[in-house]
Amino acid sequence: MAGVVAALSVVSDLARGHPPGEAMRACLLATELARRAGLDEGRQGEVYYGTLMRFAGCAATSHEIAAVFGGDDIVVRARGDLIDPAEPGEALEFLAGLGVDAARLQALGGPAGVGRLKAEGARADCEVGADLTARLGLPDAVRWAVLDSFERFDGHGVPAGRDGAEVAEASRFAAVGYAAVMFDAVGGGDVAARTVARWSGRALDPEIAAVFADAPGELLAVSSPDGLWAAVVDAEPGPRRTFRDEAAFDEALAGFGDAADLKSPWFTGHSRGVAALARAAAGLASPADATAVYRAGLLHDLGRVAVAAGVWERPGLLRAEEWEQVRLHPYHTGRILARSAVLAPLGLIACRHHERVNGSGYPAGIGGAELDMAACLLAAADVFHALGEARPHRPALKPAEAARVLASLPLDRAAVRAVLDAAGTSSAVLPSLPAGLTERELDVLRLLAVGRTKPQIAADLVISQSTVHTHTVHIYTKCGVSTRAGLAMFAMRHGLAARTGPAVANKARRDEHAPLLEVPRWEGVLRSQFRGHGAGRRGPDALTRSRSTPDPGPWTGQHLQGWITSQNVLQAVARHIGTAQAAARQAGITLTPGDRVNLLAREQAAKSA
Ligand SMILES: [Fe+2]
Repeated sequence: MAGVVAALSVVSDLARGHPPGEAMRACLLATELARRAGLDEGRQGEVYYGTLMRFAGCAATSHEIAAVFGGDDIVVRARGDLIDPAEPGEALEFLAGLGVDAARLQALGGPAGVGRLKAEGARADCEVGADLTARLGLPDAVRWAVLDSFERFDGHGVPAGRDGAEVAEASRFAAVGYAAVMFDAVGGGDVAARTVARWSGRALDPEIAAVFADAPGELLAVSSPDGLWAAVVDAEPGPRRTFRDEAAFDEALAGFGDAADLKSPWFTGHSRGVAALARAAAGLASPADATAVYRAGLLHDLGRVAVAAGVWERPGLLRAEEWEQVRLHPYHTGRILARSAVLAPLGLIACRHHERVNGSGYPAGIGGAELDMAACLLAAADVFHALGEARPHRPALKPAEAARVLASLPLDRAAVRAVLDAAGTSSAVLPSLPAGLTERELDVLRLLAVGRTKPQIAADLVISQSTVHTHTVHIYTKCGVSTRAGLAMFAMRHGLAARTGPAVANKARRDEHAPLLEVPRWEGVLRSQFRGHGAGRRGPDALTRSRSTPDPGPWTGQHLQGWITSQNVLQAVARHIGTAQAAARQAGITLTPGDRVNLLAREQAAKSA
């Protein structure tokens, strides 16, 4: 477990605009401080995991921070971490550096308003991080350490304002660890030592700061080994933790994917949805390891945290420099996962989810044989699922339209077919709702989770605001959370996010689109039949006759299925050839009358019949 958690701690480094590896360095330092302070191995372990996981939920409020401070949540975090916000002068200087002048400060509610924003953000970040520790099966003390990540020794922290020994012990060690390595990276060992001394008794526990002050150079050296990841794995206090089983490992990966999706409400549930669709498709395509594809899908967009929320949420065209950032997100994913021997193979799949078979993708621009089926399946599943989700620059597409767009892209044909098959033939039934939620509460929950306000939800669902309020109270109580981010995590964990892909979409939607989703199943058969006509003696005749055949209406998979099950497939296709040609165009298939007869596909048709 340590190796996986250590590698994934880099996600929080990137989300905060800090050097990759900072959480691991802080972990080494804090754990060594705990050892020198005389904590037993069990408590050292709490410090170890509490430090690695301290900022694991930090993508949770990216959207809100970006909305308040102008788009770049990463810069806000990076700068904010280097000041003492309890010092009014430093806090005002920090805000001024972000362009917050007096008028803007007043609009935010003055210093008190900013403080409230900060407390709300801390509560959300910590709630998400604590949720992840629970999913990892870590002790309660680690959970408390994460919940106290923004508390301070002097009681001026957020959200609860706990002080002294009320702040979780592991959190107090982690605070010194982070302060030391942050300022070591910024200004070197002397700056780190001076800052820890200055913050001692304020943000930092003076007893722990004193342990650092005894040997700052030695301790900073401990936190800067040549092989950082391996050193962190070696430093885990006993007994070493492992994942209970494969399912527990999957759930942990899903949790980190969910947390990264919190980067923007537009992405809620994206990674889980892509993973589920890719796994289902992998079961239909060979060769592909469905488990590896699923896990890579859960993690494929971790790198998104390294790009400002304002970029992801821009409704118009991206500027060139923004587009360059976006192009790097799969690279970041790959580098995060490359650190761990267990995750590295998944990284190789995940980092290629935006590559295209013709080399026109990113970040590497590789194509052809360099892309294996696993990467191709993930790429196709990512596109199809994303098209079904709304984005700032476009609405969500219906499955038929998404299928058409997917088929037009330079993606592996077999992978696309497998993804469409998987999306269209799912017979998944909706489970009963968790936590005793009602269907109506689920409607409200989905909207709350993506940041809709109560008046907006009232308008969306055509109900009164007081009804929305009542539902909201019940929802938060039932789900056991207190913030939007916590609710979004709950929704994702239980597969309740607004859009989780056609395979698990609500029944009404699935029924509505089921005929269209059948299309790809019959694509090969349709093509083979047309080719048979073109090449055979009946071809030209059939085409000629078809022009006088009345169009029987919109083409769907059901029509074609009807043709396939008719006694004479060729005659059936000929009768409806005009409609079928339109259908072929819709499915992005080029029909060439002179093609050879595809005997294999015709045999398939006969078997289906
Ligand atoms: Fe992506």
